[in-house]
Order: sequence, then structure tokens, then C-alpha cells
Amino acid sequence: MYIGGIMIMLDKIRKKRKDIREYGFSEVAKRAIIKLFGGNIYVERFLLYRNPRGYWEKRGGERYFKEQESAQNRSARSTFIAENLVKLKAKRILEVGCGYGKQLRSIRRLDTRVELFGVDFSSSQIIKGREYLKKDGIKNIVCADAKDLPFLDNSFDLVFTSAVILHHPSDTAEKIRNELLRVSRRYIAHNEDKGIASTRWSYDYNEIYNQMGLKVLEYCRIPCSPSPEITQFVVVEIPEEN
Ligand SMILES: C[S@@+](CC[C@H](N)C(=O)[O-])C[C@H]1O[C@@H](n2cnc3c(N)ncnc32)[C@H](O)[C@@H]1O
Repeated sequence: MYIGGIMIMLDKIRKKRKDIREYGFSEVAKRAIIKLFGGNIYVERFLLYRNPRGYWEKRGGERYFKEQESAQNRSARSTFIAENLVKLKAKRILEVGCGYGKQLRSIRRLDTRVELFGVDFSSSQIIKGREYLKKDGIKNIVCADAKDLPFLDNSFDLVFTSAVILHHPSDTAEKIRNELLRVSRRYIAHNEDKGIASTRWSYDYNEIYNQMGLKVLEYCRIPCSPSPEITQFVVVEIPEEN
């Protein structure tokens, strides 16, 4: 009994040391504090997500790639989105917050002619993305913030986001949406789940674009997602005169 207790304690110490080697002392300490507060999302948000760019810099790259590629129905969701986007017959498409480029590759598989561009503010995601998209011939992958896109007005036929705006509070979310509207001449699309967590905010895109007087061409759930009830896929048309 006594020996058993010591073995369990030694095992716990070994695991903590491994975590510290992998994630660093401050990250492990932050997680211990979060646990102390019973996983409260506002404490977690304050400790882990005060600097979204820094968070994605650390989280992006190989580890994020492996996590996503093993997620349930991840490829099916990506194909669903790509099928709906290629229907719009855009010639130049920009994905804002493209991560390692899964969505861009799914589009390329369905349309070999469309010009594809990706932007992400995390250099670890950009490095992985350039490597991942090389064999698809997608080279236009740029490191930039969605709030300040390095493109002229009306540069693309379609601009979309997939799980990006949900990572920002409402003032930043609004700035990002305005940037997307500035650089797109025809369509905006989003795959942005609803539901609040420490790194996530929730927006209703049907309501937002209706209030802006824009035409919502499509607003639906993503059926192949593990939790379809929190998903939202939306396509919005920008009037010609813009
Ligand atoms: C959940 S991942 C989604 C990646 C990709 N869109 C996909 O569906 O696989 C969110 C990505 O958005 C990027 N991101 C978040 N906020 C951003 C911003 N303000 N500007 C540029 N990229 C951003 C992150 O770096 C991360 O790569």
C-alpha cells in the first residue's frame, strides 16, 4: 500500500517533468492554476488567450497538423465546404486564417484552375502550410493579420474563413469582417462554429449579414461534423456596385 502510493507519486512527477520539457514551465503552471479554478473559461481565456497570435504561434505547426488530421470526419467537413465553394465558380479565392492549408488543398482537388491564396498570422502555420501545399502548386501563402490584409480592394472573387473569426472578441471580429468585405468583390463565406470556450466566441452570421443588408445565399449546418448543431456555413453575396 505504502510502496504503491510512492510509485503513483513518482509516476506523477515523471509526467509533470515530461510536460515541462515539452510545453515549458509557464504553460504547465498556467494549466495547474486553471485546474485550481475548476476550468473556468474566463480564467483560462485570461491565462492562455490574452495574445491570440502568440497562442497560434505556439499551437501551430506539426502538432496542430497531426491533431487535425486525426480528428473525426475532418476531411469530410473540408470536402463539404470545398464542394459548396467551388459552386460559386470564383477564379481567385483567398482563405484568411488558412492554417496548414487543408481547406485550400480540398478546393484544389475539385478545381485545378482556380488561383488560390492563403493568409495566416502564425509563422508556424505558414511554414507547415507552404510545405503541405507545395505539391498542389499553391505558392501564395502569406503571413499577415486578418485585420490588415496586404491586398488591394476587390482583389478576389471569393474570400472565406474556416474557424478563424470565432477565435476573436467582437471588436476584432468586426474589423476582420470589414477587411474581408474590402478585399472581396463578389462573395464572402464562413465555416464558423457557434459555442463559447476559452479561445472561442460565438457569432450568428445570418443575423450579422442580414442586418448589414447583404444577401445571404446559403446558411446551413455542416451535416458530417461530429456536432452539427453548433456548426454554421454561410455564403454572402456582395452587390455589384461595391
Ligand atoms: C482553427 S485554425 C483553422 C485553420 C484552417 N482555416 C482550417 O480550417 O483548417 C485557426 C487559424 O486561424 C489563424 N488566425 C486566427 N486569427 C487570425 C488573424 N487575426 N489573422 C490571421 N490568421 C489568424 C490561426 O493562426 C490558425 O492557423
